Amino acid sequence: MSVKIVTIVGARPNFVKLAPIAWVLREKPGVEHVIIHTGQHYDLRLSESFFQTLDIPQPDINLGVGSGLHGAQTGRMMIELEPVIKELNPDWVVTFGDVNSTLATTLVSSKIGIKSAHVESGLRSYDRNMPEEVNRVVADALSDVLFVTEQSGMDNLLREGVDSSKMHFVGNVMIDTLVKMLPVAGKLAEWERYGLTPTNYIVITLHRPSNVDDPGQLRDLCHAFEVISRHIPIVMPLHPRTRAKLEESGVWIGQTAPMNIKLIDPIDYLAFLSLVSKSKMVITDSGGIQEETTYLGIPCMTIRPNTERPVTVELGTNELVTPTSQVILKAFDQFRQDNWKKGSIPPLWDGHAAERILDVLLDIGPQEGSFKA
Ligand code: UD1
Repeated sequence: MSVKIVTIVGARPNFVKLAPIAWVLREKPGVEHVIIHTGQHYDLRLSESFFQTLDIPQPDINLGVGSGLHGAQTGRMMIELEPVIKELNPDWVVTFGDVNSTLATTLVSSKIGIKSAHVESGLRSYDRNMPEEVNRVVADALSDVLFVTEQSGMDNLLREGVDSSKMHFVGNVMIDTLVKMLPVAGKLAEWERYGLTPTNYIVITLHRPSNVDDPGQLRDLCHAFEVISRHIPIVMPLHPRTRAKLEESGVWIGQTAPMNIKLIDPIDYLAFLSLVSKSKMVITDSGGIQEETTYLGIPCMTIRPNTERPVTVELGTNELVTPTSQVILKAFDQFRQDNWKKGSIPPLWDGHAAERILDVLLDIGPQEGSFKA
C-alpha cells in the first residue's frame, strides 16, 4: 500500500529544510510526495531561486497567500489549506520550522484529523514576543510526531509534558542540505563578485522585527556596523523588509552605505554558502545561520537576547550579544583579540537527518485513522 506525504512550505528557511526530504523521497518507491507552497515568500530571490538551486521539485500547488499582518496571513493560509489538504487526504502532513506557514498547516491538519509531523521541533527561546516562538509552541502541541534537532528540544518537550513516544532526536535537516551542497558551493568564489578577499570580510544578515522595525534600534545597529567596517569589509544581503526599513528610517538611503559595507540583494543558497564559508565572522539575527556557522566552524555573533538553538552556543561557535552598538562593539573587540570560541559539531548533525525522519514515518506507514471521508 502506498503512502502519501504532503510537505508544506512557505518561507525561505523552509525550502532549505524541505530539500533533503525531497531528495530522499525521490528515491523511495511506493511513496507519493506532494509539495504545497503557501506563497508566504514570493520574491524570486526568497523562493523560486531556492527550488532551482537546491533541485527541489516545483511545488504541486502554490496557494499564493503573500504578505500581511500575522493574523490575516495565517488566516488566509488556513482558508486555502483546508480544502486542499482534505482533497489530498494524505497519510502525513510534514511541516518545518517556526514560520506562519508552519502554524497554519498544523492548525488545519489537526482540526481535520490528518496526522502531522513537525520537523525542527522542541526549540524554545522562551520569548513570546517573537512570532516564531508562538508558532513553535502551537506546532509542537498539535503535531503527532516531533522531530528534534538538539538535546534542548527533547528536554523542552519533556518539560511541557509531551509523551516521549512522539519525540525523535534525528539531527538537523538544514545541515543535511549544507553537507550535500558544500562541495558545490566550494567551486564558487562569490566573494570575488564584491571585490572581497577570502577570510577577510564579515557577512551580516538582519531581518527580525525586533531589530529592524524600530528606526532608533536600526540606526544604533548600523552605527556598530559602520565602526566595524573601518576594520574589515562587510557584505550584507538585505531581506526585503530590512531594505524597506533602512529606506524608511533614512539610514543608508539608497546605496549610500559606508564604502566598506556592500549592501546587496538576497542571494541564492549556494552563493550565500560560498560567502559564509570563507568569511571571517558572521553577525546575524537569523535562526538557521547560527546552526550553519556552527557546522562550518565560522565565528557567529548573534545579535539577539536569546536563542532557541542553545547547542550552537554550548558546543558551537555562536555567542549571543545584546543588540546594542555598545555591546556589539565590545564583542567585536574581543573577536579581534582572537578571543572567540572554536566550537564543535553537535550530535547527529551528520547529513542523514532526512533519512532518519522518513524511516520513522514510513515505519509507521499508512494512516487508517486519518481523514478518509
Ligand atoms: C519569515 C519568518 C521568519 C523567517 C523569515 C526568513 C514568520 C513569522 N517569520 O519572516 O521566521 O526567519 O521568514 O526570511 O513566518 N516580503 C517581500 N517579499 C517576499 C516576502 C516578504 O518583500 O517574498 C516582505 C513583505 O513586506 C513582508 C515582509 O517582507 O510584509 C515580511 O515577510 P513575512 O513572510 O511576513 O516575514 P519574514 O520577515 O520574511
